[in-house]
Amino acid sequence: MATLKLGVLGSGAGSNMQSIVDAIAAGTLDAEIRLVLADVADAKILDRARRHGIACQYLDCAPFRTKLEGAAEDRCIELLKMAGVDTVVLAGFMRIVKPKLLAAFPNRVVNIHPALLPAFPGVHSWAQALDYGCKVAGVTVHFVDAGTDSGPIIVQKAVPVMEDDTPESLHARIQVQEHLAFPEALRIIAVGAYRIEGRRVRIDRDRLQPKA
Ligand code: GRF
Repeated sequence: MATLKLGVLGSGAGSNMQSIVDAIAAGTLDAEIRLVLADVADAKILDRARRHGIACQYLDCAPFRTKLEGAAEDRCIELLKMAGVDTVVLAGFMRIVKPKLLAAFPNRVVNIHPALLPAFPGVHSWAQALDYGCKVAGVTVHFVDAGTDSGPIIVQKAVPVMEDDTPESLHARIQVQEHLAFPEALRIIAVGAYRIEGRRVRIDRDRLQPKA
């Protein structure tokens, strides 16, 4: 049985979920995706999950627009627990998760954010970085805490901002790194090669080396 039993929450294309699927298939991540939930009924992430034979379903989060709370939060926790999930992956999930979900999976909810946090939390962070005039942008994978994009950082990767960048071209460059960063962060968790000390995630690089 795989070490990590993942539940993936998403709202969009699911390219980050795909990077996790690919890492598992390549044998570089000891994990299985037990369940994919999307808060958008026709989200492409659900099509992708179906194509890979992964259990998935739409999670109606009404009446809330920007958070996962109330009956939907309860249902989400119930579905994840029933599927045997031990680690929750927010892969382009455009809602704020609340303390109840975090308490159900303590230190086991992981988010990817397309910026070098703590710069530019929130939405359209790549466009914010461009507007600000940053010369470097990037991606952060972090444990989720009660704040917005504020939990302890597991992996960050930087990309240059080019003179002729548009928000779309910069986001595309960041996404290439997202697809490396997410499997890398999950590998660290799967191997248990870390400990959380306050805000710092201490990583034991030796334990990440493949055994001879
Ligand atoms: C990614 O840029 C992610 O960082 C952000 O939403 C986007 C989701 O992309 N939070 P995808 O659905 O994984 O393709």
